[in-house]
Amino acid sequence: MSLKSKIITEKLPLHVAIIMDGNGRWASQQGEIRTFGHQNGVKSVREVTEAAAETGVKFLTLYAFSTENWNRPRAEVNALMELLIHTIHVEKETLNKNNIRLLAIGDLMSLPEKCRKELNEAIQETSGNDRMSLILALSYSAKWEICEAIKRISNNVCTGKLDAEDINEKLISSYLTTAGIPDPELLIRTSGEYRVSNFLLWQIAYAELYFSEKLWPEFTREDFYEALINYQNRERRFGQTSGQISKS
Ligand code: IPE
Ligand code: IPE
Ligand code: MG
Repeated sequence: MSLKSKIITEKLPLHVAIIMDGNGRWASQQGEIRTFGHQNGVKSVREVTEAAAETGVKFLTLYAFSTENWNRPRAEVNALMELLIHTIHVEKETLNKNNIRLLAIGDLMSLPEKCRKELNEAIQETSGNDRMSLILALSYSAKWEICEAIKRISNNVCTGKLDAEDINEKLISSYLTTAGIPDPELLIRTSGEYRVSNFLLWQIAYAELYFSEKLWPEFTREDFYEALINYQNRERRFGQTSGQISKS
């Protein structure tokens, strides 16, 4: 029986973020080159995106390429960019069919032009969809994002558009690339690595962290359901006591 039936709809996280890790190791296990792992990772992206939309998750953010990933061998970076272009092009139709809106966060100007064009087209063409937002983090790093926000805030203070006294958590959030998107309640990382690798540092301040030993290409919809169920069995206290939480 699928784990899906055990998910309590009322307790679903609104936003799930995933660090999709382990493509390279999975490929090595198959005696293949790393790119083969990335290609097979697309299957998991498709499966998890569908599962998230079906269960009623409203925002799904996938860490697809970090700022630090630019330092990988040129051939791997090129292959990843090509895969991205191809996947966005092919999957656009499915996103529309499933009423899913595509968004992207990160230093998008650093992406190859062809990639940016494909991405912008898909964002445009899916902009009317409202079942779920699929947010791709591309050339993304949280420290980069925070630096950019500080630059813009400082500029606005210097030119008198903003009063330094008005800087608060809400304002800072509105200067991040995730402005308008609620913070993720659940962060999943695959491949048995226990770190956040510069992902959404501000936004995950109170997220529940879930680590899976599975490598990303072997992560299925059932693994995703398992993460949701695990999340639903946790007590989120936000600094309060257990007694206070059970009363409310
Ligand atoms: C995740 O898999 C995909 C990207 C970072 C683009 P990796 O490529 O990091 O795979 P491992 O961690 O080396 O196995
Ligand atoms: C994190 O994975 C980035 C993405 C999943 C896109 P990495 O494989 O790049 O992270 P590290 O190097 O293990 O921290
Ligand atoms: Mg990795």
